[in-house]
Amino acid sequence: MTVVSVINYKGGVGKTTVTANIGAELAYRGHRVLLIDLDPQASLTFSFVEPTMWERELADERTILQWFGDVLDRGGAAPLDRYLLTPPTVNEVIGQHSEGRLDLVPSHLMLTDADLDFAASLGGSRFQHGSPRFLSLHRALAEALAAPAFTDYQVVLVDCPPNFTMVTRTGVVASDHILIPARPDYLSTLGIDYLRKKVSELVTDYNRVAAGRADQISPEILGIVFTMVQYTGHGPLLALRNFIGHPATIEIPRFQQMIRDNKTVFASAGEHGLPAVLMPDANVNVQYELQQLASEFLAKIRP
Ligand SMILES: Nc1ncnc2c1ncn2[C@@H]1O[C@H](COP(=O)(O)OP(=O)(O)O)[C@@H](O)[C@H]1O
Ligand SMILES: [Mg+2]
Repeated sequence: MTVVSVINYKGGVGKTTVTANIGAELAYRGHRVLLIDLDPQASLTFSFVEPTMWERELADERTILQWFGDVLDRGGAAPLDRYLLTPPTVNEVIGQHSEGRLDLVPSHLMLTDADLDFAASLGGSRFQHGSPRFLSLHRALAEALAAPAFTDYQVVLVDCPPNFTMVTRTGVVASDHILIPARPDYLSTLGIDYLRKKVSELVTDYNRVAAGRADQISPEILGIVFTMVQYTGHGPLLALRNFIGHPATIEIPRFQQMIRDNKTVFASAGEHGLPAVLMPDANVNVQYELQQLASEFLAKIRP
């Protein structure tokens, strides 16, 4: 099993879109894929689950919010399998093509509150390393994913909120890799180096506390994926090229494959429970790019 967190400090850069499409494409190709929605906006959840169904069957008892509640009650890992969901529409399409499956742990709009409770439980918003719960809370997701119910998943994608609070930190601690979607513009690339520093601080702090008590972690930055790229006949718009070159200047890898800007395709994506890559009649260029991105992703996690 490979766990990948999808993160950027900025919202609206395509984190959820990239997560949903890579996940669905890999499942379509026959992989067992798990998506975990850690963002209180719950866009990933609503890409696969109808809001009425969420409200009726999930909201009160079967989302990551209640799981984080369990974790706080226990002061550490809690079983996650009862929060697993197999969204019907996308899996029908997948099932016609392969043995793959796409499962989801749905999010909740109140998840922001869990973050506050977490911080309080650790003795304030600065995650004091001295807190006796530092290790068990940080390890909560990693431990939950180590349970037998999860051994069949080949790829786990964690859609993170645009911050680095406790919920996000559990995702990073559980991850082998980090994928950073970004738009090729100044403000979107600005936070990337900062994000890398935050990840490396967390890794150092965590490993110091974990020494002799739990495995060390070393999540690696898989790369930056540029999304919403505007093209002319000769490639990406000239004004964007500086920013597309930015990862090299800060020595962070980037995916060769970029995803073009296409409001027509992405505006309606999710509305019918299918991401763009599996939508019938979607723009073929966009679908090709999403498929290529999934291939590059696979090659990077299985070198
Ligand atoms: N390549 C793209 N072209 C046009 N619109 C896109 C593209 N990728 C995503 N979008 C749209 O941009 C918005 C933000 O994308 P989203 O994936 O939700 O970002 P994030 O998860 O980083 O907040 C959504 O409305 C989405 O449909
Ligand atoms: Mg999102």
